Amino acid sequence: MTKDEVKKLRMNSPESLQFLNNATKFYNLMMMYRCAIREIQTKLEVLDDEFSVENNRNPISFIKTRIKQPNSIYDKLQKMGYEFTTENIQTYLNDVAGVRIVCAFIDDIYMISDLITQQDDIKVIEIKDYIKNPKSNGYRSYHMIVEIPVFFAKGKTPMRVELQIRTNGMDFWATLEHQLRYKKGIEEMPGYDEISEELLHSARAIIEADNEMQRIKDKIGMFYEI
Ligand code: GTP
Ligand code: MG
Repeated sequence: MTKDEVKKLRMNSPESLQFLNNATKFYNLMMMYRCAIREIQTKLEVLDDEFSVENNRNPISFIKTRIKQPNSIYDKLQKMGYEFTTENIQTYLNDVAGVRIVCAFIDDIYMISDLITQQDDIKVIEIKDYIKNPKSNGYRSYHMIVEIPVFFAKGKTPMRVELQIRTNGMDFWATLEHQLRYKKGIEEMPGYDEISEELLHSARAIIEADNEMQRIKDKIGMFYEI
């Protein structure tokens, strides 16, 4: 913002009132997304708690949440050809509220996804199963866009949340791949193709490890609740 723009804001001009009004609306909406995250997080913690009492282990290793940064929201709307308004954010973006659920075993992912889907206040909007169909770079995760009602003083509002459910192995790979690849212009770097190939190779090693652990679990599971 330029100095002149700040001055205008101080003078209570119509622009300043408009700006403050929009900013208030934006922060209000971000608060609503944070509340939606809390609702989903509680549901997941309840499922994890119940399972751990019955089976003596936690299917969820950890949960990480994030709200999309204002500049990323702006960039994404811009790319889609929409103005930066609270209405457009709610209509066109599915990933303002994000919840990452990291599980011990592959079958825990599907169990958690099924148990969330069965809850009658949750509406599943979209599923992308990058475990059954990994991306060509090797990325694997189970993605869900869900809508959950949040009860505010002004009434009930359905809020969308993106869930990424993955194993520790998938999370390890995706986090490192993100750190390595998300550099501006990296595609132009000499030897980039080789790096992509190496990342794909490491993804395959992790698939092997995930499958191996699942097989061991299934073996033990024939004799013990696990
Ligand atoms: P975005 O516009 O990136 O959100 O993609 P999308 O709307 O097509 O959704 P998709 O379900 O494919 O991806 C959603 C999110 O999953 C991304 O924002 C990332 O957090 C994660 N993701 C998807 N692909 C990759 C990948 O190749 N590597 C890593 N590290 N993360 C990925
Ligand atoms: Mg995204």
